[in-house]
Amino acid sequence: MMIKGRSNLWLPHTLVCLLIFLKVESTGEVAITIIEGAVAKGAVCLDGSPPAYQFDAGFGGGVNNWLVHIQGGGWCNSVNDCHMRTYSQYGSSKKMKSTDYNFTGILSNKQELNPSFYNWNRVAVRYCDGSSFTGDIETIDPGTNLHFRGARVFNVIIEELLNKGMKFASNALLSGSSAGGLASILHCDKFAAFFPSSSRVKCFSDAGYFAHVKDLSGEYKFEGYYDQIVTLHGSSKNLHHECTSQMKSSLCFYPQFAMPYVQTPIFLLHSTYDTFQVQNILATPQADPSGLFSKCKQDITTCSTDQIQKLQDFRSEFLDAFLVVQNGSSRRGWFVNNCFTHGQCEYQSKWLGNLSSKLNHKAIAEAVGDWFYDKNPTVQLVDNRNVLPHYCVN
Ligand SMILES: *[C@@H]1O[C@H](CO)[C@@H](O)[C@H](O)[C@H]1NC(C)=O
Ligand SMILES: *[C@@H]1O[C@H](CO)[C@@H](O)[C@H](O)[C@H]1NC(C)=O
Ligand SMILES: *[C@@H]1O[C@H](CO)[C@@H](O)[C@H](O)[C@H]1NC(C)=O
Repeated sequence: MMIKGRSNLWLPHTLVCLLIFLKVESTGEVAITIIEGAVAKGAVCLDGSPPAYQFDAGFGGGVNNWLVHIQGGGWCNSVNDCHMRTYSQYGSSKKMKSTDYNFTGILSNKQELNPSFYNWNRVAVRYCDGSSFTGDIETIDPGTNLHFRGARVFNVIIEELLNKGMKFASNALLSGSSAGGLASILHCDKFAAFFPSSSRVKCFSDAGYFAHVKDLSGEYKFEGYYDQIVTLHGSSKNLHHECTSQMKSSLCFYPQFAMPYVQTPIFLLHSTYDTFQVQNILATPQADPSGLFSKCKQDITTCSTDQIQKLQDFRSEFLDAFLVVQNGSSRRGWFVNNCFTHGQCEYQSKWLGNLSSKLNHKAIAEAVGDWFYDKNPTVQLVDNRNVLPHYCVN
């Protein structure tokens, strides 16, 4: 690492800048910042390495606006599973590369591709704890040197950004996709609490609404997985207290039980046929031991009529679980389509493009922008017309 950094020093500064500029222009590549100082605070990735983020500075009218986007990447629910992650970017900053995570879609710096946020300060919070940033256990696992400190990592990154100027933000949006989308729901109020009331602060979750719904065998097996994650990482104390005082904490890891307590305005982007949920909550190998669903859950063009019906039943259950979002909040927004996909804001073609999913003539990027800037009092869109699972743009 050090040697590579030094070998660049002979290059004239302007040439280095030009090269970086060209690179950013063409690919959306943004350098990684490692927070070395976080180690002393015990705010570390699973392997004990310091946490990291990628930062692209705002410009023009966006210099006082901040988008903090949390990377996704599932969770780990056992010591073994978490140990495996330390060999990847999802458990160690030593394994992270800037090219793992390009700034496209909601992170793009181009007006025509990202009209509402392109000139904001844009941050990608790199995910390296496996608990959607909820974990906090003092003891380091003796056999593996594992650290369960996600919640501390989140705080340290937010504090670093506040000191970088985010505390003066006019507008701030906590965003995230998948496990990061769950994190943006769970940490929404905590994020908002860092700002003065004069800042406009909101949250946005993409594909983060992991629903507490039945699998194909009629059981709630995924709940057991969440039990293990919450126990292993000691997440309880970092979930909504009003929720955990009423039910077991792993249920409060589910948006449908946590959302009633979220005070900050929030927008949810989701598909009713989210591929992660179809594959890992509905049609798990346990719930489908004979593997009848294994083709269909990968490729919906192979589904039988009966299987399509099962997927539609899943859609209904998902929408029931989503009702709590819609309950009595005019400050909330949503965009719910029926695309067979998982995560839509980081992909340029899904976020905004001539083939991207549209509801009420708005692409996702336009719907989220209108909602954030209060251009429309309510942006609450559910696709009830094209209800069958279908492929949208990739
Ligand atoms: C990011 O961009 C680089 C350069 O174009 C590419 O090699 C890399 O695969 C991209 N990363 C992802 C995750 O798409
Ligand atoms: C909606 O809110 C009311 C009042 O807070 C509550 O009684 C009701 O159970 C909620 N419904 C759903 C679907 O969450
Ligand atoms: C979408 O836009 C691209 C360029 O922006 C263009 O080349 C392409 O023909 C368009 N596709 C459709 C279906 O309009």
